[in-house]
Amino acid sequence: MNINPFNSLLTVPTGTLKIPEVTQNIDENDAIFLSLVIPTYKERDNIEKIVSILSTLLDEVMLNNYELIIVDDDSPDLTWQVAQSLVPDYPQLRVMRRVEERGLSSAVIRGWQAARGQILGVIDGDLQHPPEVLTQLVDQIKAGADLALASRHVDGGGVSSWSVVRRFLSRGAQVLGLIILPGVLGRVTDPMSGYFMVRRSAIADVTMNPVGYKILLEVIGRGNIREIAEVGYVFCERNEGESKVTWKQYIEYIQHLIRLRVSTGRLGKIRQKINFPIGRFLRFGAVGFSGVFVDLAIFHLLRTVITLGLTRSTILSAEVAILNNFLWNDVWTFGDISRKQQGKRQRLKRFLKFNVVCLAGIIIQALVINLLYNSLGMNQYLAKLMAIAVATIWNFWVNLKLNWRVTDVSKSE
Ligand code: GDD
Ligand code: MN
Repeated sequence: MNINPFNSLLTVPTGTLKIPEVTQNIDENDAIFLSLVIPTYKERDNIEKIVSILSTLLDEVMLNNYELIIVDDDSPDLTWQVAQSLVPDYPQLRVMRRVEERGLSSAVIRGWQAARGQILGVIDGDLQHPPEVLTQLVDQIKAGADLALASRHVDGGGVSSWSVVRRFLSRGAQVLGLIILPGVLGRVTDPMSGYFMVRRSAIADVTMNPVGYKILLEVIGRGNIREIAEVGYVFCERNEGESKVTWKQYIEYIQHLIRLRVSTGRLGKIRQKINFPIGRFLRFGAVGFSGVFVDLAIFHLLRTVITLGLTRSTILSAEVAILNNFLWNDVWTFGDISRKQQGKRQRLKRFLKFNVVCLAGIIIQALVINLLYNSLGMNQYLAKLMAIAVATIWNFWVNLKLNWRVTDVSKSE
């Protein structure tokens, strides 16, 4: 229970990573200019110093018109607690402790979701980003930039004492990014920067979906950023604590690039517009394809081994194929849905429903093949193929629209 509201931690926003257009739950008068997020993980020994330096600096240029938001991922060294103990001395400081989620990029977005400012910024909590650059970033925003970032690769920028290997890795990552996602990485000289400010309006109402470390990629890739300004800075050495970068961040970086490429590329945009669940459809199609072989194999068995009649063999093999398709669709194509309805009865109901849909599919096949072969004189195999295609689309569409789930009101609920 929080008795003193000034000492309470910020509530962690949940749900999609989307920044509200207008600052929620606050009065117009409470809106401020800048919200600067400081993501932290095990930065206990840096926190007081950075809060003090940033406050002194920002008090000078925008007294009472900014806030600092520390977003700590439940650091085992209790960084969040140290930060919280500073609040009485720094009223513009707010602290968020995340327990459920992890990761630098999502921490930054969660912080921005709780922010009150029109300008949203981020700076590392380990003092490797020189605080003096902040005022230059603010100036760029005031001059009209949608995004102002601190860059190591423009005049005045650099790294203090990086080894050749580290420089090479950093530049290699940049080149790789330029190849995969030129439209995003090509817009700035330092796409790896984690020190920047962006207008809320440029990234509001967009669903973000970052992996790992590089939040700037997400902002440029998904936001509506027109003007970008860069300010040089020297990436300093750490005095306290240590970097959290491991090989895992390199993998996540590549994953992030690919994800952005897929969802923001031309194809991704078309996909979003028509909003067709292509992945699900492909799975459904693959399952249907497997069903054809099951059908044929069982048909062959019944005819040759058991010597069953033609009609009976046809119906029985078709039913086995339906069962095959149902099982795969239930665990794979619609697995996300059926996992929420795991009861035996529910599964049986889904199976019966699937049978009914498939039966309708067979009738549709018969109609289509008659139309194409008898009325239009098409080759019978081509006609059969087209009939299968139409029935597959029908089957998929109905199963999708019926949501694969069964309405099952049990007595105990
Ligand atoms: N909340 C949270 N959760 N914070 C994290 C996490 C996390 O999982 N991982 C790291 N941080 C915090 C750190 O505590 C630090 O304040 C900041 O994010 C940067 O992390 P470092 O581990 O110090 O990163 P770095 O210095 O190696 O990497 C920096 O590389 C760029 C330049 O190439 C990035 O931090 C960029 O911001 C920087 O510009
Ligand atoms: Mn660092």
